[in-house]
Amino acid sequence: MKNYVIESLPDYFKQYKKSIKNPKKFWDKIADENFVWYQRWEKVLKHDMSEAKIEWFLNAKLNITKNCIDRHLSSRGSKHAIIFEPNNPEEATQYITYQDLYDRVGKMANVLRAQGIGKGDRVCIYLPMIPELAVAMLACARIGAIHTVVFAGFSASAVAARITDCDCKLVITSDGSYRGDKKIDLKGIVDEALKTCPSIGKVLVVKRTGSAVTMQEGRDEWIAPLLDAAPVDNIPEIMDSEDPLFILYTSGSTGKPKGMMHSCAGYMVYTAYTFKNVFNYKENDIYWCTADIGWITGHSYIVYGPLLNGATTVIFEGVPSYPQPDRFWEVIEKHKVTQFYTAPTAIRALAKESTEWVEKHDLSSLKVIGSVGEPINDEAWHWYNDHVGRKTSPIVDTWWQTETGGILISPLPYITPTKPTYATLPLPGVQPVLMDDKRNEITGNQVTGNLCIRFPWPGIARTIWGDHQRYKETYFTAFPGKYFTGDGALRDEVGYYRITGRVDDVIIVSGHNLGTAPIEDSINEHPAVAESAIVGYPHDIKGNALYGFVILKESGEGRDRDNLRKEINQLISEQIGPIAKLDKIQFVSGLPKTRSGKIMRRILRKIAEGDFSNFGDISTLLNPEIVEEIKNEKL
Ligand code: PRX
Repeated sequence: MKNYVIESLPDYFKQYKKSIKNPKKFWDKIADENFVWYQRWEKVLKHDMSEAKIEWFLNAKLNITKNCIDRHLSSRGSKHAIIFEPNNPEEATQYITYQDLYDRVGKMANVLRAQGIGKGDRVCIYLPMIPELAVAMLACARIGAIHTVVFAGFSASAVAARITDCDCKLVITSDGSYRGDKKIDLKGIVDEALKTCPSIGKVLVVKRTGSAVTMQEGRDEWIAPLLDAAPVDNIPEIMDSEDPLFILYTSGSTGKPKGMMHSCAGYMVYTAYTFKNVFNYKENDIYWCTADIGWITGHSYIVYGPLLNGATTVIFEGVPSYPQPDRFWEVIEKHKVTQFYTAPTAIRALAKESTEWVEKHDLSSLKVIGSVGEPINDEAWHWYNDHVGRKTSPIVDTWWQTETGGILISPLPYITPTKPTYATLPLPGVQPVLMDDKRNEITGNQVTGNLCIRFPWPGIARTIWGDHQRYKETYFTAFPGKYFTGDGALRDEVGYYRITGRVDDVIIVSGHNLGTAPIEDSINEHPAVAESAIVGYPHDIKGNALYGFVILKESGEGRDRDNLRKEINQLISEQIGPIAKLDKIQFVSGLPKTRSGKIMRRILRKIAEGDFSNFGDISTLLNPEIVEEIKNEKL
C-alpha cells in the first residue's frame, strides 16, 4: 500500500512535499495502485480556476460500486460491510456482509432499471438512517443514475425545492421513520412535496414503521415485492471519470440551496484515501460515524469512504439521548467500535449530562475519535478527550465542507500531535493559503486570514447543478485563481490551522474585528453555560454591538441572571478584552439550528436587530419553535 498509507510524521512530510511538488504524479500513483478501472485515464488533471473548471483522471472509465463492493467479494465476502443499529435498542441489530450488500444493491439496481431509470437520471432518496438508504445510493451509482439524498428531516417544501431544482424522475422513501420515541410520517411529507413536482413519475416505498400511508395508484409502489422478484445479476454502467455521481444540497447565502455536484473518479479516490489515513483504519476495525447520510459527512464517511476500503461501517438510526443519554456509549461498547466520528454539537449536549453515563460503559475499544462540522470549543474538546478518548485515543478534528467532498485539514491519529481546537495540518494534496481582505497572501506563521485553497484536489465539487455561474462566483472570484472556503483560519507558530468560523460571522465593533467563535468559546467556559451564540446589532456609537444568546446548564438555571451577565462579561473581558464584552445577554432554552447542528445566525441577527419580518423558510430548522420563544423574550 505504498503511497496510500501515511506511516509516520516524517512520512507525512515526505508525502506532503511530493504531493505539492507534483500533484499529478502523486494522485496518479494513488489512483493507479488502489482502485479498479475499466480504462485508465489519458490525463490526470485539467483545470482552469478562473472558469471554475476542474477535471481529474480524464477519460478514465469506472464504476464506483465495483470498487465499493465487487472487488472485496473474494477476500471479504463474509465480512460485515454494514452493521445496522436500530433506533430501538430492543430491535435486533442487522449485520450485512459484503456478499449481502452485493445482492441487495444488485436487486435494487434492477428494480430501478425496470422503472426506466438509467444513466444521468436524477433519483431523490428521502429515507431514514436504515440500510436501504446506503443500498439505494449504491444502486443509483451502479446504473449511473445521479442520487440526490435529501435529509429525512427536511420539510415538504424543502424536498420539493430540491426535486424541482434537479428535475428528479423517481423518489425512494419510506412509510415513516423513528426518532427516539417519535414516529415521523415521511410518506405524508413526500405526498405533500409532490403536489408541486410534476417531474416525478414513481415513488418506491420502503416499509419501516408500519404506519398507515396513502398510496397513489400508478405512482406509488411498495419496494419489497419488487426487490423480492428482482434478479441480483446486472451489468454495472460504465461511467466516465467526470460523469456526475451525486448532487447534494447545501445552504448558501441566499435562500436557494446549492446543489453541489460531485463526479465519479475524483470523489472516489479522495474519499477512499482520506478515510484510510484520517481514521487510521485497519482491517478488523469497526468504524462508526454518527452523522446522517443526508449530509456530506454521511455520504463520504459512512458510505463511500469506508466501503471503498472494505471496512465495516455502523449505520445508527437513533439519537444520542434515546432511550437514555448513554446510547452512543452503549453502542460503542456493544459493537466494540474502534473509530467514532461525531459533531461538537452532540459532544456539548452529552457533556451537559452527568459523566456517570459515559463512565458506565467500556469504551476501551476506541482507537480514534473524530469531530466535524463546526469549530470544537476548548471545553468540548477536553471533555471529549478526557471522557471519551480517555486521553489515549487521539481526536481528529477534521475540517472540510460539502463542497470539498472529503477532509482537507486534520490530524493523522498517532502521527500528528493534536492541539485542542486545532484541525492542525493539511492532508497531502491540499494547499491552504490565508488571504487578507485586499487579496494579498498572508505568509509566515502566527497569522489569521481568509482560508483559500490554492490548487485543486480530486474530491472538489465540479459545479452547482444547473448554475455554473453561481459556482464560479461563490467560490472562485473573491480570491482569483483560488478556491475560497468562506472560512477564516489562524495559522499558529508551527503552521497548524485552527478554523475560526465563517468569515461572514465577523462583527466589527468600534472598528475592531471580532470573531464570534472565540467570544463564544469564552462564554462557554463559564461553568453555568451550556452553549451560546453571539451576533452583531446596530449601535449608535460603536457601529455594531454584541448580542449574546446563552443556554444555561441545568445547574445554572437557578442563578441570579444579572450576576451571571456580569460574570460572563468579566470572563470575556479577561480572555479577549473589554471590547468584546456583550451589550445584551438573553438567556434562552435553545438556539435555532439547521439539521446538521449549525446555528442559524441569520435569524438571531434579525431578532437582535428587532426586525421580526421575513425570517425566510424556518421549516427546515431542527427546532423551528424556538424562534418564537427567542423573539418574545428579546431584550
Ligand atoms: O465553517 C466550516 C464548518 O462547516 C462548514 C462546512 O459545512 P458543511 O458543508 O455543512 O459540511 C460539514 C461537514 C463537513 C465549513 O465551512 N466546519 C466543518 N468542519 C469543521 C468546521 N469548522 C471548524 N472545524 C471543523 N472541523
